[in-house]
Amino acid sequence: MNEQVQGANQGAGGDPLFNPLSPDFIRDPYPHYDRLRTIDPIHVTPFGQFVASRHADVSLVMRDKRFGKDFVERSKRRYGPNIMEEPVFRNLGHTMLQADPPDHTRLRGLVVKAFTARRVEDMRPRIQEIVDQTLDAMIDRGHMDLIGDFAFRLPVTIICDMLGIPEEHREAFHKGSSDGVRILDPVPMTPDEIKQGNARNLMAQMYFQQLFELRRRNPGDDLITQLVQAEEDGNKLTNEELTANIMLLFVAGHETTVNLIGNGLLALHRNPDQLALLKARPELMAGAIEEFLRYDSSVQMTGRVALEDIDDLGGVKIPKGETVLCLLGSANRDPAVYPDRPDRLDVTRPNVKPLSFGGGIHFCLGAQLARIEAEIAIATLLRRLPDLRIDDIENPEWRATFVLRGLKRLPASWRARAR
Ligand code: HEM
Repeated sequence: MNEQVQGANQGAGGDPLFNPLSPDFIRDPYPHYDRLRTIDPIHVTPFGQFVASRHADVSLVMRDKRFGKDFVERSKRRYGPNIMEEPVFRNLGHTMLQADPPDHTRLRGLVVKAFTARRVEDMRPRIQEIVDQTLDAMIDRGHMDLIGDFAFRLPVTIICDMLGIPEEHREAFHKGSSDGVRILDPVPMTPDEIKQGNARNLMAQMYFQQLFELRRRNPGDDLITQLVQAEEDGNKLTNEELTANIMLLFVAGHETTVNLIGNGLLALHRNPDQLALLKARPELMAGAIEEFLRYDSSVQMTGRVALEDIDDLGGVKIPKGETVLCLLGSANRDPAVYPDRPDRLDVTRPNVKPLSFGGGIHFCLGAQLARIEAEIAIATLLRRLPDLRIDDIENPEWRATFVLRGLKRLPASWRARAR
């Protein structure tokens, strides 16, 4: 690393400006973002990536066609020429999330109808039913883990419904771990982590191949049947793309929503005035969800590669082929867009338009579904367990991943009562 880059990587006290897997950063990234936006808004990491932290730059990079994913070349540059032989990388490379047009357009087009606002609105009664069943099973216990016992079950059940995963297979998914998401982090994976990722990936692939067989024989009214039929149609999608995108929907559809519910509940309980306001005025809930997304986004970062030389991004030149990391969580607290105390949770804040679901052609497919799931989950919890208290509000345990920000557990208690 040359001296100039070394200098750019450090704040005034000599500590690194961007060290996203350090425990301090994981616990509270926001003071770090504040320093980045102020001191070095297009920061260069020791790995040579550019880090955009201001709202204007983050928003531009996600929407501008001069930037794309370029996943294969980007991964080779980072990990070496043979990296695409690793199953976990091959698989991710076949997802719409990492594809550029025209592949992206083709893959997204095959599933987009299942996620329209109308289709998702129709799912409200089912979402309410799952939340109520979860609480019914818990209500006379007097305590639960808001992550494992409450938030986790809803998005997993809904995505299992949508994909058509048979009831009798679901127990394994409900117990599933979420350690497989380190691949998204900006700090490269170790060979050991790649090995573990490969093993998990191959297990999931084996499971889904069997399920595809089942749906070829017994079609259902679900997304897997729809995609299996598209595969059989000829040149619409390959078998590898089918597997990769079903796995993407499964992962993208729950980790993130669990964390929206968990981070939102933590933020609310840390701000008792806002909690009281929301209990008194449940009609504020839809706006409150936007504020939870803004205040502590469950996705903190995405990235793009410059597909041509960029002369000026926030005053910096980005050569073709270089990666720009977009700090969504930082953009969401940029005072240039949220002048009224951006570090404060305010469920009545006007004009909240968080970048938590990304932007441009990759804008989150499940955004409306996630919003409705979180809205129903949090509203029902406040209504049915109004005296719920979080056990340790000061030091909750965060997961050690940076891109997907969420809690390992969030134990809470209430006065147990008969139903
Ligand atoms: C709070 C919950 C969620 C958050 C914060 C979130 C965030 C994001 C973000 C930031 C992106 C764009 C990444 C990029 O531009 O590189 C994205 C893409 C995506 N999300 Fe979500 N997501 C959430 C929930 C969901 C749900 C519930 C589903 C599906 C059931 C889903 C499916 C997807 C898919 C398929 C993509 C890729 C879209 C594309 O590349 O065209 N997400 N999400």
